[in-house]
Amino acid sequence: MPESRGRAYGEPFGRTERTDSWWLAPLSQALGLALLGAYATWAAFQGNHYVFGNYLSPFYSPVFKPKWWPLSSALLILGAPMGFRTTCYYYRKAYYRVFFADPVACAVGEPRKGYLGETKFPFILQNAHRYFLYLALIFIVILWGDVVRGFIFDGRFGIGLGSLVLMTSVGFLTLYTFSCHSLRHLIGGQVDCFSCAVAGGPRQKAWSVVSVLNEHHMGWAWWSLFFVCFADFYIRMCSMGVIHDLRLL
Ligand code: FES
Repeated sequence: MPESRGRAYGEPFGRTERTDSWWLAPLSQALGLALLGAYATWAAFQGNHYVFGNYLSPFYSPVFKPKWWPLSSALLILGAPMGFRTTCYYYRKAYYRVFFADPVACAVGEPRKGYLGETKFPFILQNAHRYFLYLALIFIVILWGDVVRGFIFDGRFGIGLGSLVLMTSVGFLTLYTFSCHSLRHLIGGQVDCFSCAVAGGPRQKAWSVVSVLNEHHMGWAWWSLFFVCFADFYIRMCSMGVIHDLRLL
């Protein structure tokens, strides 16, 4: 019986029969996560330059700045979106691969001999993802309110480049949130028979839409992470006077 090419379970770390560039995906994911994660952390600790006119950085929304809190207000609210991303099924796969090499890629030898899974602390906390989803849905509503305000200049409708940047950022965040595996399960994943379930018809339609979005969850994850950082960067640069917001209308 011929041996399966690429099989590496139980092999020494890094050994594989794969001949493709299997290291390219984990390497680029590591760079992306490190760069965007570093920027987001830095921006969250600044506590300034997060507002420019009618634009509000998504890292600081909703604004919550009690008198007793001496640090950046972003630190009080970012736990929810951070928890959502950290426990996301896609990001789990990505950072388990790039930071724990567990496994670093399919059919590549692992540093450990056994599978530890997510049944013990701290990884059992990943099960909280569905609860972070509920919080993320509230944040999406708040962020769309910021987008609407981003189109109102001195009480009148207008369009600035920042309005479009904010809208793109929140648009991708919405696609990322609505393509969530937990949301898909919540809507229809646990139903065996839509025609027998309560509101089965609308649920099936909603489930179908979320399923289509879910196929691209990885893409939405990256685009939303990039644009949420870019929206903060754009507003920060405008607020610091480094660039001028381009008013289109
Ligand atoms: S699985 Fe990625 S956000 Fe829920």
